[in-house]
Amino acid sequence: MPNWVYTDPEIFARENERIFGANDWLYVCLEAEIPKPGDFQRSQLGTREVVAVRGRDGEINVLLNSCAHRGMQFCVSDHGSAKEFICPYHQWTYDLAGNLLGVPFRRGYRGQGGMEADFRPEAHGLQRLAVTCRHGVVFASFGAPNQSLETYLGPDMLGWFDRVFDGRDLVVLGHMRQRIASNWKLMFENIKDPYHASLLHVFLVTFGLFRLDQQSAIEMDDTGRHGALVSRRGEQKLNEATAQMSAFRQDLRLADPRLLEPVKEYPGEITVVLQTLWPNLIVQQQSNGLAMRQIVPIDAQNFDLVWTHFTYADDPPEMIQRRLRQANLFGPAGLVSADDGEAMILSQAGIAGSDDAECLVEMGGREVANAPHTVTETAIRGFYQHYRAVMGL
Ligand code: FES
Ligand SMILES: [Fe+2]
Repeated sequence: MPNWVYTDPEIFARENERIFGANDWLYVCLEAEIPKPGDFQRSQLGTREVVAVRGRDGEINVLLNSCAHRGMQFCVSDHGSAKEFICPYHQWTYDLAGNLLGVPFRRGYRGQGGMEADFRPEAHGLQRLAVTCRHGVVFASFGAPNQSLETYLGPDMLGWFDRVFDGRDLVVLGHMRQRIASNWKLMFENIKDPYHASLLHVFLVTFGLFRLDQQSAIEMDDTGRHGALVSRRGEQKLNEATAQMSAFRQDLRLADPRLLEPVKEYPGEITVVLQTLWPNLIVQQQSNGLAMRQIVPIDAQNFDLVWTHFTYADDPPEMIQRRLRQANLFGPAGLVSADDGEAMILSQAGIAGSDDAECLVEMGGREVANAPHTVTETAIRGFYQHYRAVMGL
């Protein structure tokens, strides 16, 4: 893997066009963030900003946050409720579907100025993206996808997706947002790399939340672009595997064990599913911690990670408390995730200035295939197999 894929501004521009700006389905937000007509939520797809808004008919529109007049971002609140959108600059007014309703001084003033007689407001609405929703999750595309979301995910990935999004209504518990000084692809690599999890994370390893001696697997769709890392919880005990992990600390105890104390809520024995959905979403189910992690590229060497923690609308208060406590593992200062943020920053710093050098992704072999264990980088290879096809590299 050449280092320039993480540093070259031209590669970044091509990614923005071919990956974020084409026919793929990109994660936008949860429907629970915009429950009522008029509710809106801003989001970023690649480097472009959009506004997801629920129209009067209950349908969700995703509009480019760029006025049809001079391109200004017309929506400046992160979220809220609106009857219509009025661009602050010259107050062009749009309805919730992005149609242009009004242009001040369209016919000039006292017979002078104004728009030409052939100006047609219907030709100057906001850019509207293709939208699809599944079980409360909103996706959009700048292009004209010829695949349903279900086909795009493929049957196996759809199965993992529906495990968390089973049709129950969702409620948002809160957001976290952090800027990480690394290329956006390193975030996907991090989640597709279970090899590090047993070595880097004292918290995961010690308390048995994820470790290579536990039953686990890597799955991908046919293209390799989407993946799922699945695992089953273990114990804090010394064995042949943990003996090799310097991060394993038998002497550590939680002062308040309620921080973990997971309860089983899904069928089967699996307790962790981290799903990476091309090109901008990680669905996280670790114990009872549920979150969307949206990847927002800023430039070749920076991205934002936006966390949306959620719960089911029918959850009792104790479960909500449990999810909130477990949320301490995640985010910029999370007991686990802080390690990953630091690792990505140090990775980017380590490759800076060595654009033509290469790094190695050969753990577990050189092929791309599902694996019934996690001592492998196969999912990273799968990601780049698809990446190269899309990018023409
Ligand atoms: S830029 Fe929006 S009204 Fe002029
Ligand atoms: Fe990690």
